[in-house]
Amino acid sequence: MKNWILGWLAGGVLILAGPVEAANFVNGQRLYNMYCAACHGPRGEGVNPEAPKFRMGERLEQPDMILLQSVRTGKKTMPPFFGILQDTQILDILAYVRTLR
Ligand code: HEC
Repeated sequence: MKNWILGWLAGGVLILAGPVEAANFVNGQRLYNMYCAACHGPRGEGVNPEAPKFRMGERLEQPDMILLQSVRTGKKTMPPFFGILQDTQILDILAYVRTLR
C-alpha cells in the first residue's frame, strides 16, 4: 500500500512536470542550424527574401501552436517538416528562434 501511494505520487509529479518541462535550447539551436538557417539565416536575419526575419520578431507574435502548424505543413516556399522533425523538436527550435536578436 505504501509503495503504491509513493508510486502514484511519483507518477503524478511526472505528469505535472511533462508539459511545463523547459524547451531544449541547445537541441533547438542545433536543429535550427541544420534545417532552417539556410532560409531564415543563422542569426534569424533572413537569407531567403521571403523568409521572415526572426531577429526582428517577424511572425513571432503568433503562439507556438500556430507556428508549429506552419512548420509541419510548410508555407509558400517553406517545405513541410512533418515526418522529418517531431513536434517536440520543432518546439525546441521555436524556443531557440524566440531568443534570436
Ligand atoms: C526553403 C526555405 C525555408 C526553410 C528551409 C525554412 N523556412 Fe520557414 N519560412 C520560409 C518562408 C519563405 C516563410 C514565409 C511563408 C509566408 O510567406 O507565409 C517561412 C515562414 C516561417 C514561419 C512563420 C510561419 C507563419 O505561420 O507565419 C516559421 C515559424 C518558420 N518559417 C519556421 C521555420 C523553421 C523552424 C524551419 C526549420 C525547421 C524553417 N522555417 C525552414 C522559408 C523557409
